[in-house]
This record gives sequence, C-alpha cells and structure tokens, in this order.
Amino acid sequence: MGQSKAMAGVYIACAAAACAAAAVVLTQRVKVRSQKYTARKILVEFQEACETPLPRLRQVVDAMAVEMHAGLVSEGGSKLKMLPTFIDHLPDGNEKGLYYAVDLGGTNFRVLRTQLGGLEGRVIKQEYEEVAIPPELMLGTSEQLFDFIAKELVSFVAREGEDFRLHEGQSREIGFTFSFPCKQTAVNSGTLLQWTKGFKVNDAIGQDVVAALQGSIERRGYKMRIAALVNDTVGTLAGGRYWNNDVMIAVILGTGTNACYVERAESISKWGGELPKSGQMVINMEWGNFWSSHLPRTYVDELLDNESLNPGEYGFEKMISGMYLGDCVRRVLVRMAQQAGIFGPHVPHKLLEAFTLQTPDMSKMHHDDSSDLKMVAEVLKTVYGIHNTTLGIRKIVLAVCDIVCQRGARLAAAGIVGILKKIGRDGSTANGFIRRNDVNGIHDELTVNSIGGSGKTVVAMDGGLYEHYSKFRNYMQQAVRELLGDAAKNVFIELSKDGSGIGAAILAASHAEYVPT
Ligand code: BGC
Repeated sequence: MGQSKAMAGVYIACAAAACAAAAVVLTQRVKVRSQKYTARKILVEFQEACETPLPRLRQVVDAMAVEMHAGLVSEGGSKLKMLPTFIDHLPDGNEKGLYYAVDLGGTNFRVLRTQLGGLEGRVIKQEYEEVAIPPELMLGTSEQLFDFIAKELVSFVAREGEDFRLHEGQSREIGFTFSFPCKQTAVNSGTLLQWTKGFKVNDAIGQDVVAALQGSIERRGYKMRIAALVNDTVGTLAGGRYWNNDVMIAVILGTGTNACYVERAESISKWGGELPKSGQMVINMEWGNFWSSHLPRTYVDELLDNESLNPGEYGFEKMISGMYLGDCVRRVLVRMAQQAGIFGPHVPHKLLEAFTLQTPDMSKMHHDDSSDLKMVAEVLKTVYGIHNTTLGIRKIVLAVCDIVCQRGARLAAAGIVGILKKIGRDGSTANGFIRRNDVNGIHDELTVNSIGGSGKTVVAMDGGLYEHYSKFRNYMQQAVRELLGDAAKNVFIELSKDGSGIGAAILAASHAEYVPT
C-alpha cells in the first residue's frame, strides 16, 4: 500500500514535470512563432513600401525628365544640379602624346599615365597605380587631402619609364577626375559645392579644387598643368566616346551614383556665355541629389538620412548606391531584432552601429543559393557575431537584401530612361522626332540623328556596384527593358571598366595647351 502510494507520487511528479516541460516547449514554440510572425509582418510592410511597379517607375522617369529641364533653366531650379562641364567636344581618337590622370572619388585613389597614338595607335601604353585613401584624410583638411594626391602623383611621375615620351615643347598635362559636385567656371577650374560619399573636408567647400591641387604639386617643386577637371561620369563618357561614337550617356553605379550626358547647348537656358560652336555641352547631372514624391521612401531612408554626413541631401543616391544599400538592409534587421527578437533576447551591439553592413557583404548574402543559406549564416556570424540562426530567419534576411537591391536597381533604371526621354531616345517619338509637350512640355525638338551616331544609344556604365553585384545589374537591365519596350533594342548599356581615369587623360589631351601633330 505504502509502496503503491509512493509509486503514484512518482508518477504524478513525472507527469507534472512532463507537463511543465511541454508547457515550456509550447511557450517557446509560440514565442518563436510570434517572433517569426512579427518579423514577417515587418518584412511585408517594408516590401510594400519599397515597391516599384511599372506605373510608379514611369512616374519617376517623367519626374527625372521634368527635373532635368528645370535644372537647365535656372540655377537652383531643381535639386538636380545639372552642372555645365565646359566640355563641348568629346575625344574622337585623334589625340596624341603622353598624358596623366589623377582620380579621386571613392574609397580608392588612382594615378594613371597613357601614351596616345592618334587614330592608328590609339592607347599605345597605359600604366596606373591605386592606393586606398587613408580614412582620416576623408575627414581632415583640404591641404592634407591635396598634399596626399600631389605626393602620390609626383612619386608616380618620377617612375615614368622610357616607353612614355613627351613631345618636344610639351609639358606634362593632367586630367583631374574629381567625383564630387563642382561648379565649373572653365574646363580646368571649378569650386566644390559639397561633399558626398563619406567625405567631409569642410575647408575645401567653395575652394577651386584645381588651384588647390596645382598649388600642392608646385609646392613639391613639380610643374604640371591640370588641363581638365572632370567628374567621373564625364571621364567615363569621354572614355566611352573615344571608342564609340554612339555613347551619349555615362552612369556611375558605385560607392556613389551619378550620370552625365550630351545636351544641346541651346537647351541650357541658364548658360550665360556664348554658345559653344559644337552646339553641345556635357552636363553633369549630379542625379544623386534627385528627389521626387514618387520615390518609395520608407522609415529606413529617413533614419539613414538623419545619421548621414549630408542629411537632407542626395536622397536618390542613398536609395541606390553602394555606400548605402548595405545600411538600408541593416536598419530593417535592427527593427526585426528589436521588435521580433530574431537574433535572440539582445540586439547584437554591432548591429546597432551605422554602416557596419557593407554592400559587398549584402551582395554575398543575396547571391547565396545554397539550400541552407550558408553564406547568410557566415556573414551574420563574421560581421555581427550572430550564431545559430534558423533557416527561417536566414530566409528573411535574404528577402530584405532582395527588396533593397531590387528597389535601388529599378530606380537607377528609371533614372536612365528619364535621360533617354529627355534627349528623345526612349522610343516615345515617331521617326526620331520628338513631339513637343510630350512630357509636360519638357521635350526638346530634335532628331535622333542630330547629336551623334546612328540611332543607337550607348550608355557607358562604370562602378563596382554594377560590375560586381550581378543581381543588381540584372534587375536594372530588366527594368530598363520593361520601361523601354520595343525601343530597348536601340539602347545598349556597356560596362566601361575604370573608364573615368583614361577618359580624363584623353580629355586632358583634347584640352591640352600644346597639341602635338
Ligand atoms: C558625387 C558625384 C559622383 C558620384 C559617383 C556622387 O556622390 O556627387 O559627383 O559622380 O558620386 O562617383
């Protein structure tokens, strides 16, 4: 009797323990489920806010074309700066001689020399060197920055080999690729309007950057002439045009983003001077600063903008370019970690730090096609020390990458089609003639053949984002095709790798003081 009572006690205790364990498991399951539910809810809301269906993209296309027009009419007429570059003729292959280029714009700095041999020889020889920009220089003084460039340049010049020859009477001339917004006053002078892409060298704003670099070079006892100040888009356009006459537009999709194109000079109403004889002028759009109410802006963009070095500025760039895409993803993950606990009870410390998820890491996760998403797990572990993620959570992370990438790529496509529309190359015209009043009256009347080429339009493209992030590239190309329909057959987007440096050297040649015959 005593024994069976004791047994019953054991049974009851066991059953109670089992019940309690089951309850714990159940509570945990319920918790996990509710976490997943909350995370999914955040995902779906974000996805909806980022959507770029065709009608919306078309609104962005039209807004881009309208803003381009407004920016050409008056200074400050649009957030699009539409800066005249003073480049009124592009290289044609006849350039000859030895020229240099320096290229400052993203995370790396590059110096380059090229020996040009005219139509027959073209680029006879070319050499370049690349160094990472010490991060402290991106936030230091103007003198430190330009002294660094001059130092790298003169040490490169000192190593010029015998294969490179100056003509008699020729001095070394440089194309200076400076990939920030500058208001030019001549082909070889311009003042910096503002910094972008994580640079903030305050005393350089308002300075003539050509004079600053020239001064630093001279202080080192060297005599070189800066023949052209060139935005990287303009260098890419010139480099592309050197080989192909149909290149009309250049786009950079890298750390930052921007576009330039060949405009009819008489469309630039804000141009005060005499119109160039060629009737054309390259316009640096600074499209990173484009803004329109049609852009799909979310809480992520607001937070990112507030914490950026240039709040309120370059909103388009912050949705598209390599400097920012990773951070957009991180901010969604932070919300999921805080509200749904997807990475455990505590939000990993580093995840809260801005810009810790770089776009190349986002791209690695996004391209993970393993069944268990190994790479997603690996990146979360190495970058944030997050272990033991479930497959479900990894899938959610992947989906966030996809949403951010797709939105950026499709907006970039809309930007390109906006330019095509402005110059009458988007197929919305009969026989190449633009009907006036096509887009709120912004279309210029011109024939397809009136500026350059064959009716084909080539967009020269450069930048690591486009080159290395293949899902971004594919989404972008797909959206260009969707937007252009049949006209897509006449539009070619061509990668012009590192074209901006060589393009700047070629522009130095076509704007040189001494022109070898
Ligand atoms: C700059 C542009 C530049 C682009 C691509 C932007 O942040 O404002 O001048 O062309 O980045 O490098």
